[in-house]
Amino acid sequence: MNAANTSQALEHAFAVLRENDRGTYTVPTKGLYPFQWNWDSCLTALGLAELDEDRAWTEIETLFAHQWPDGMIPHIVFHVPADTYFPGPDIWGTNRPTPTSGITQPAVAGFAVKRLFERATDKAMAAARCRALLPKIDAWHRWFYENRDPHGEGLVAILHPWEAGRDNSVDWDAALAKVPTTGITPYTRRDTDHANPAHRPTKAQYDAYVWLLEHFRALDWDNTKLHDASPFQVIDPAFNAILIRACTDLSAMAATLGQVEISQRNAARAERALAALDTLWSPEEGRYLARNRVTGEQIASQSIGGLLPVFAPIPAERAKGIAERVQALLDVLGYIVPSHEPDAVGFEPQRYWRGPVWLVTNFMIADGLRNAGETAMADAIAQSSLELISKSGFAEYYDPSTGEPLGGGRFTWTAAMVIEFLRAKTAA
Ligand code: DGY
Repeated sequence: MNAANTSQALEHAFAVLRENDRGTYTVPTKGLYPFQWNWDSCLTALGLAELDEDRAWTEIETLFAHQWPDGMIPHIVFHVPADTYFPGPDIWGTNRPTPTSGITQPAVAGFAVKRLFERATDKAMAAARCRALLPKIDAWHRWFYENRDPHGEGLVAILHPWEAGRDNSVDWDAALAKVPTTGITPYTRRDTDHANPAHRPTKAQYDAYVWLLEHFRALDWDNTKLHDASPFQVIDPAFNAILIRACTDLSAMAATLGQVEISQRNAARAERALAALDTLWSPEEGRYLARNRVTGEQIASQSIGGLLPVFAPIPAERAKGIAERVQALLDVLGYIVPSHEPDAVGFEPQRYWRGPVWLVTNFMIADGLRNAGETAMADAIAQSSLELISKSGFAEYYDPSTGEPLGGGRFTWTAAMVIEFLRAKTAA
């Protein structure tokens, strides 16, 4: 990308951020996702910081203003009514002052806040805002290990595919097939009004998503009960690795700000969880594999969930193995990194998390590879990401063979990740 194209891409990315800005929070894209989403917002804050640092902190503060009393940060905050999304606040029935969903999402906040803090030009403002956020993020991390690992194995389970953010990944197929779907309240999907149904999860998957939601709602969203009562408990390496990275980053930031107890608690969480994460490494597959906590079975699915752990401080030889996997993908595909291996069972190049490339997972993998010294591969991922937006605009996700744009358009976190990739390129 030459200088003119770079500045055009940057302007385009800023325009997408502005368009999806609702003042104190951003929506992922209008129509399809009209509320505030947890991990979208935290990663979007990185891009917002390039426009306005104050506004970037506000994005994360708005999300944390809706923390549950038990410490959970919900995956959606329904700030204002909108009838373009299912399931809306009435379906969740969480009885929060501002309605929210009742499940969580990947814990990227600790990572994002550290990055905002390090890059801040207004250091005094950053320190003050960071100090206020630290205990809240710490409480969320505690919540994860208490409520999603109640038997103390060192790794947390997701109880709903939406918690992983990779809704219809092949990783969940077998576990989701055990979720009953009879007796659910009839519903009308809205996502397929905005995106091609062939790019979205199937009806069978939605039925299971709704069954789980109604099951948890019947338990009054009591997180002390949900884990053991859920027929779906999956230990996702990516979800755990993101939490480990967040604990590591929170620990470092708390140390800098003199908050010793928060620092020590999060360092201890990260250390214990990293050791447990290593039990998910598969030498045969050269990637981490998920585990079904209900059956104890390893899930032999070749998805991006097995590569994303490079975002955490995993051992160097594991990071090297992951760099080799990504290189192998680059050898056979137009664009990397696909959300599922192209020659593996279940691969669908255009269906949401079953094959398409997402810039947000590209960003996390590239960041982890760079930290591990795998610079060439990190650069290759960044380049592929920028080629995608040059060719196909700021889509939700892309076909890994053709680069075709898929899902929703003018997507906020895609724009934020483009800003991150361009920032790294200019700094290089
Ligand atoms: C959706 O509705 O598609 C979301 O991914 C759930 O968070």
